[in-house]
Amino acid sequence: MIRNRHRDRQSPYLLLPNIGQLLTLRGDSTPRRGSALNEVNLIQDAAVLCSGGKIIAAGPQREMLRHPWVKKNRRKLAEIDCRGRVVLPAFVDCHTHPVFVNPRLVDFEKRINGAHYEEIAAAGGGIRSSIGPVRESSRKALSGKVQVALEAMLRQGTATVEAKSGYGLSAKDEIKSLEAIRDAAQHWPGAVSPTLLAAHVVPPEFTEKPQAYVELICEELIPAVARRKLAHYVDVFCERGAFTLEQTHEIFAAAHRNGLDTRAHVCQFTPTLLKELLAYKPASLDHMDCVHQDDVALLGQSRTVAVLLPGASYFLGHKEYPDARRLIDSGVPIALATDYNPGTSPTPSMPFIMSLACTHMKLTPAEAIAAGTINAACALRLQDRKGSIEPGKDADMAVFDVHDYREIAYWFAWNRCAEMIVAGKRQNLDGN
Ligand code: NIG
Ligand code: FE
Repeated sequence: MIRNRHRDRQSPYLLLPNIGQLLTLRGDSTPRRGSALNEVNLIQDAAVLCSGGKIIAAGPQREMLRHPWVKKNRRKLAEIDCRGRVVLPAFVDCHTHPVFVNPRLVDFEKRINGAHYEEIAAAGGGIRSSIGPVRESSRKALSGKVQVALEAMLRQGTATVEAKSGYGLSAKDEIKSLEAIRDAAQHWPGAVSPTLLAAHVVPPEFTEKPQAYVELICEELIPAVARRKLAHYVDVFCERGAFTLEQTHEIFAAAHRNGLDTRAHVCQFTPTLLKELLAYKPASLDHMDCVHQDDVALLGQSRTVAVLLPGASYFLGHKEYPDARRLIDSGVPIALATDYNPGTSPTPSMPFIMSLACTHMKLTPAEAIAAGTINAACALRLQDRKGSIEPGKDADMAVFDVHDYREIAYWFAWNRCAEMIVAGKRQNLDGN
């Protein structure tokens, strides 16, 4: 995780009293599967104690106020009165593409007129049309774009973000994109997990020799990124019109040789057999709109998290959404993320994604919250620090101005996030 350089004078001792509903999401450090996805560990009339950026204790207010730690630190304690509202772990947005310059409005209108995402991409639109502006932008300008996105995410309850490169698509411009992520992360109070997605599409100068681009990724880019610790993960868009399963193998193998972990965009438009990819123990496989039944059983036994991205289905106007119920009922650990990007999901809002998950994928509000907190933390392998409110974990919490946690997914396109506490510090959410 990239740490920020924020410094301020807030007291390191913090008490959150008068919580109407506290969702702790506590449990062991494995992703929730099956019926466990429904357990949010709700406590009514609760309080939380934090110190030095960590959770000290969380539970019924009566108990918390008698906690010896409160007596000992009473004079130093800062308080955020939650006034009967809902408190839950800050969201973990485990799949985003924030390093781009422009919205893709031409593609948007083409789709409204009936064109398909893949058709637009094949005609030079889509991801390829975002490359030029990223190559022409300075690292500083790109980091400004990333920062704007991170701030918007924070205002809607998110404090941990996975951020991919993927619109530079040359060694220089992918590295510039990852540096922009690092720079933006250092000015943001939350945590950012960076991912190299040089294998997003084959850039125009390699159209006639895609294998040479794969070699550049494996032999030049991945070693440089690993050496400079610019990314934790290597991602591949394994899809018709992007990269083949064979090429994904090569890129995953190069990632492992260089000590980086893997994740992939897969089964978005066409089914790919996942068995061979699972051998690399990827942290997550994302999209998963069309998964083969045999693979569902394999995923049910694996620790790889299936990250579902209903924002992309919504924005592309799909009638079908990923079959979340089939995955959950087969014991597959699922997570939710925004997929924030200019082509398929231009939203920074985890609550909106949770609303879509409930209305279109038939998750319960509790399942959607677990999928956007503890399971999303597992998808980034950050479950020891993020995704739940329990002693020793980072004090990252969202206060929603609602009285029942189900309202978080119920009010859509209405930001009810009232307060954010990140690393034990209250954030200024001006600009809401
Ligand atoms: O996750 N599918 C590939 N990548 C992105 C879309 C990127 C884009 O269109 O710019 C996605 O949906
Ligand atoms: Fe994506």
